[in-house]
Amino acid sequence: MTKKTATLNLHGKDYDLPVLEPTIGPEVIDIRKLYGEADVFTFDPGFTSTAACESTITYIDGDKGELLYRGYPIEQLADKSSYLETCYLLLYGDLPTGNQLKDFVQRVTMHTMVHEQMHYLYRGFRRDAHPMATLVGVVGAMSAFYHDSLDINDPWQREVAAIRLIAKLPTLAAMAYKYSIGQPFVYPRNDLTYAANFLHMCFSVPAEPYKVDPVLSKAMDLIFLLHADHEQNASTSTVRLAGSSGANPFACIAAGIACLWGPAHGGANQAALEMLRQIGTVDRIPEFVARAKDKNDPFRLMGFGHRVYKNFDPRAKVMKETADNVLGLLGIENNETLRVAKELERIALEDPYFVEKKLYPNVDFYSGIILEAIGFPTSMFTPIFALSRTVGWISQWKEMIGEKNQKIGRPRQLYVGPQKRDYIDLRHR
Ligand code: CMC
Repeated sequence: MTKKTATLNLHGKDYDLPVLEPTIGPEVIDIRKLYGEADVFTFDPGFTSTAACESTITYIDGDKGELLYRGYPIEQLADKSSYLETCYLLLYGDLPTGNQLKDFVQRVTMHTMVHEQMHYLYRGFRRDAHPMATLVGVVGAMSAFYHDSLDINDPWQREVAAIRLIAKLPTLAAMAYKYSIGQPFVYPRNDLTYAANFLHMCFSVPAEPYKVDPVLSKAMDLIFLLHADHEQNASTSTVRLAGSSGANPFACIAAGIACLWGPAHGGANQAALEMLRQIGTVDRIPEFVARAKDKNDPFRLMGFGHRVYKNFDPRAKVMKETADNVLGLLGIENNETLRVAKELERIALEDPYFVEKKLYPNVDFYSGIILEAIGFPTSMFTPIFALSRTVGWISQWKEMIGEKNQKIGRPRQLYVGPQKRDYIDLRHR
């Protein structure tokens, strides 16, 4: 079979560019040799048309609103799987057998505690620090505590680092929360599930017994699962780029957390709930919709729109159903925020501006409502996204490090600055 090529004609000369075939999705034109052969770069700020790597982990079809983890539809995983089973799937490529899952859960569970010295590290932060600020710092500092899993060339150390990150992120996020509200840190309990243990570390206090509500831990597990990976989004690309230089895994995940914090990315869940609260009542929705459409107003409807999904975000569908169930089970279905959210969604989906631009509610639109019902303040929403996404980041990082001929990431640029010029002595300027 002859290999497909695309031809670029530049200055009267043809350049044949190989066309790569994915297992699903659009074909990819391989331009790796273009600069060497034709002395040109390609220009794609925001990477809207550029594949930066090969990956076998997650697939998104933005037009169909489809998300697959290792081939499995997110809806099936949300319905039938659990977060830790999904972590196994993302990390190792296939669903585990019963024994493999038991062994994996045991390995993660045995790593939930953090080095005791880390408690002192937290005490250096101001109490009113945003938990994301604390998390970026403490996750980066893991490389100062776990020296035996820093050698990226040793597959065993890479594996230990991955398990440590998945196991310790809930502990570190819960500690950031406890620190911010002036309560004592709560040690993990290994008799609880991953999600129940996180709720225990966030909400229990030494003065009283605390029983995790199974409805809430199920919802928590689902939120973790729905955020577990999302192919080459900004934070994952950040982790890959940081990792491409050979930086240790803890430093790379800290870089990913820093990127996730932005309101256009993971920070949108906090911003979305704050916006719903700011809108306050259903009658004020038209005012905010008008502001979102006004070119001269920087306001955007947070929790709406996505770079890839141009139909609907399948995670938002599951999240919406979960919000209904959780609030129903907690007896708070008359929540005003939920009413505003539903009405805003209805109005926006009928409005020509949102319809034409294909702006649909994304995962962050409904997750905040559930997290608030569970009892989290908005400042914890993005740390929860970060802990859920850690498995995706580390799976993508491991995939990249394991590649033969892995290269440092180094984009080129379209230089539009001054021409070469001579230095002018200070007294002549
Ligand atoms: N409200 C109002 N207008 C919007 C919105 C919005 N939420 N999102 C996009 N637009 C408009 C935008 O003004 C632009 O209009 P025009 O073509 O007239 O200039 C058009 O839609 C395309 O927007 P864009 O910013 O070029 O699209 P993008 O693919 O670069 O951005 C996005 C995607 C998610 C950053 C953007 O939709 C946004 O800022 N949404 C609000 C923040 C948000 O909810 N982020 C969470 C994303 S999902 C979870 C995650 O990734 O962490």
